[in-house]
Amino acid sequence: MIASPTNVALVTGAARGIGLAAAQRFLADGWSVALLDMDDDGLRAAMETLAVPDRTIALHCDVADRQSIARDIAAVGERFGRLDALVNNAGIAVFKPLMDTTPDEWQRVMDVNLTGPFLMTQAAVPLMRDSGGGAIVNITSISSLRASTLRVAYGSSKAGLAHFTKQCAVELAQLGIRVNSVAPGPVDTAMAKQVHTTEIRSDYRDAIPMARYGLEEELAEAIFFLCSDRASYITGQILAVDGGFDAAGIGLPTLRGERKNG
Ligand SMILES: NC(=O)c1ccc[n+]([C@@H]2O[C@H](COP(=O)([O-])OP(=O)(O)OC[C@H]3O[C@@H](n4cnc5c(N)ncnc54)[C@H](O)[C@@H]3O)[C@@H](O)[C@H]2O)c1
Repeated sequence: MIASPTNVALVTGAARGIGLAAAQRFLADGWSVALLDMDDDGLRAAMETLAVPDRTIALHCDVADRQSIARDIAAVGERFGRLDALVNNAGIAVFKPLMDTTPDEWQRVMDVNLTGPFLMTQAAVPLMRDSGGGAIVNITSISSLRASTLRVAYGSSKAGLAHFTKQCAVELAQLGIRVNSVAPGPVDTAMAKQVHTTEIRSDYRDAIPMARYGLEEELAEAIFFLCSDRASYITGQILAVDGGFDAAGIGLPTLRGERKNG
């Protein structure tokens, strides 16, 4: 085993989007990072972009596959000798109405978005404990906090992940492991591009007090903060990083327009 002098983070879904931005944020602060993803080509491209082979490892893994996870956590231990942060970021979206969502679609969304973080957390805790503790951040969504149409599977999986966060925070505090969630509003990643039409984009700008999508880097900053020692007394929290979207329950666009014009 090669012990690493630097802190080590494992980020799931790290081949692109919020996960890749989080990996970059950890690396910028001198951490080593294990990038885990099921997209082999994406992982290869991410490793080439990052270009720090001495502080990165690529792990090809489906977060719903228990055997692969056990193998990959062992690989992190062998390569870096420790684990200080786990970011459960990998997620998928099926945006369909209740009556059109098939049991297979429901199951896959639950497997990736909820069971995946459960399996990853179970597998990572012993290495984190042996490293003297650490932090876990689960990436939920505005859809874990507020309901909307077409989010029956996705929103339910993310709400489950939000509560799983609190369960783990309570249980793992005694091991020195903090557990929090970051709940993004819309962020302009490949996932959002796939499901957000021009009309949806315009509606989001109307509904979000800051009137724009979030940036991957802004999510990465919140994730990094919660994993850092600066968040040493924060656990069990769901931090919405959403330009005020969650806060604006009755923030009607018309009223905001009147305020601006008045
Ligand atoms: N983009 C948004 O607007 C938004 C909003 C709220 C929440 N989120 C959440 O943020 C997280 C990241 O989203 P993103 O927009 O960067 O997504 P993305 O689709 O751009 O990237 C997700 C990454 O996860 C990987 N992945 C998917 N399923 C996997 C699996 N089973 N095992 C391993 N890797 C897997 C993909 O290959 C991809 O590289 C997700 O959990 C998503 O639900 C995103």
